[in-house]
Amino acid sequence: MAGTGVFAEILDGEVYKYYSDGEWKKSSSGKTVAIINPTTRKTQYKVQACTQEEVNKVMESAKMAQKSWAKTPLWKRAELLHKAAAILKEHKAPIAECLVKEIAKPAKDAITEVVRSGDLVSYTAEEGVRILGEGKFLVSDSFPGNERTKYCLTSKIPLGVVLAIPPFNYPVNLAVSKIAPALIAGNSLVLKPPTQGAVSALHMVHCFHLAGFPKGLISCITGKGSEIGDFLTLHPGVNCISFTGGDTGIAISKKAGMIPLQMELGGKDACIVLEDADLDLVAANIIKGGFSYSGQRCTAVKVVLVMESVADELVEKVKAKVAKLTVGPPEIDCDITPVVSESSANFIEGLVMDAREKGATFCQEYKREGNLIWPLLLDNVRPDMRIAWEEPFGPVLPVIRINSIEEGIHHCNASNFGLQGCVFTKDINKAVLISDAMETGTVQINSAPARGPDHFPFQGLKDSGIGSQGITNSINMMTKIKTTVINLPTPSYTMG
Ligand code: G3H
Repeated sequence: MAGTGVFAEILDGEVYKYYSDGEWKKSSSGKTVAIINPTTRKTQYKVQACTQEEVNKVMESAKMAQKSWAKTPLWKRAELLHKAAAILKEHKAPIAECLVKEIAKPAKDAITEVVRSGDLVSYTAEEGVRILGEGKFLVSDSFPGNERTKYCLTSKIPLGVVLAIPPFNYPVNLAVSKIAPALIAGNSLVLKPPTQGAVSALHMVHCFHLAGFPKGLISCITGKGSEIGDFLTLHPGVNCISFTGGDTGIAISKKAGMIPLQMELGGKDACIVLEDADLDLVAANIIKGGFSYSGQRCTAVKVVLVMESVADELVEKVKAKVAKLTVGPPEIDCDITPVVSESSANFIEGLVMDAREKGATFCQEYKREGNLIWPLLLDNVRPDMRIAWEEPFGPVLPVIRINSIEEGIHHCNASNFGLQGCVFTKDINKAVLISDAMETGTVQINSAPARGPDHFPFQGLKDSGIGSQGITNSINMMTKIKTTVINLPTPSYTMG
C-alpha cells in the first residue's frame, strides 16, 4: 500500500515529505498542497509546499553531488540505475495505486507505466555504458593546408544540474525518461513533479533512494507552481531543463537563459485515412489512439481526416467499438475514467458545445458526471470549429471528411502543433510521400501515434517541442562535447 512498508519514511502523518540531500524532509513553510482524486473529487493526498530557500538548498546539494558523480565510473552509475529499476518494478503495486488515485489511470495501465519505467531505466543504463564509453578521434590533415600534427579527442562531459519537469499523465515514466539519462551521463537531477502525480513520483524517487545513489544527486521538490515554478526554472544553478507538458513550456523557453532545453508540449495528431485502408485496422487504432487513458496523451489521435468515400463505413466501425468501451472508475480498470480535473472537464465540454452549436454530428449522446466524460465521436467536424484545432486532452474525437489527400495534409500542417501523425493505406509509396509531406516529428504508417518503444527518437516540430527525446537522444542531449587537441612537433604516421 502507498506510504507503508518501505515507503513509510516518505510520509509524515498525512503529508508526504519532499526529498533533499538524501533525506525525506518536512518543509519549513508548514504549508501543504492538496492532491484531488479525479474520481471522488476529494483530497486524496497532501504534499509539502516547499519554499524558495529549500529550492536554493537543493540546488546547492545538487551542484556539490554532481562534481563527484561526474568522476564515478560509468559501470558504477549503470549498476545503481539497474538496482533502482529492479526496486521500482518490485514495488509496482503501491506506485500504481498512487497513479490510480491521483490521476485516475486505469489500474492495468498504471502497472504498465511502472514496469515500462523500470525497463526504461535499465535500457538507459546499458545504452549509456555503450555510447558514453566511446568518443571520436580526428586527425588534422583531412582539412586542406594541414599536416598530420594535431590529434583531436572528441569526448562528452555532463551538463551539471538537470531540472526535470514531467506532466501529470505519466508522472513516473516521463520522470524517469529524464532522470535516467541525466544520471548515466554524469549529471545531478532535480525533479519538480506535477501536483497531480506528485505522490507517485515521490514513491518512484524513494526507489532511487533505496538503490543507494549519493546524497544530493537526486532531489524532489514539491509545491505550488506559483511559488516555486519560475524560481526553479530561472534558477542560476540549473544547467538544463527537460520539460513535458503544455503551454507552460513555451513560457519557460522564452524566459530560460543560455541552457539546453528539451521540451515536449503536446500535439494535435492527425490520422489520415485513404480509400484503400484496412478500415478494421483503422477503427482499432482510432480506439486505441484516441481513447486510451481517456485521450489524455500528447500522442493521442486528436483528429481523424478520412476520405469521404469511406467515411460512413469507418464511422460506423468506430461507433461500434466506442459502444463497447467501459466507462467508470480506474480501480476496476474501466477504459474511460474521469479526466484529471474539473477545469479540464470544463474545457473539454466547452469544445464539445462549440462543435454542437456549429453543427457537428454527435455519434453518441454527450454525457458527463463530475470529471467523467463518456467517449464521444464527433462526425462532420469543420475547420471553423475549435475542436478541429485544439487539443481536448479528453475522450472526445473529431472526424473531418476530406476529398483529397492534399486536403488532409493541408489540415495537418495548418496546425500549430507538429508532434506525430499517422496515415492508413495499403500503398507504401503513397504512405512515404504523405509522411514526407506531414510537418510532424514522427509519422506512423498503419498504426496510431505513440512515443514508444522508449528508445525510438521522439520529437515535435513547431509548438510541439524543442529537441529530440528517446533514450539515446536524451543521453546525448544531456551532455556537451568537449575536445582536447594534442599538438605534435612533427607529423604523425597514424591516421584516424
Ligand atoms: O503524453 C505524452 C506522452 O509522451 C505520450 O506517450 O505515446 O507512450 O502514450 P505515449
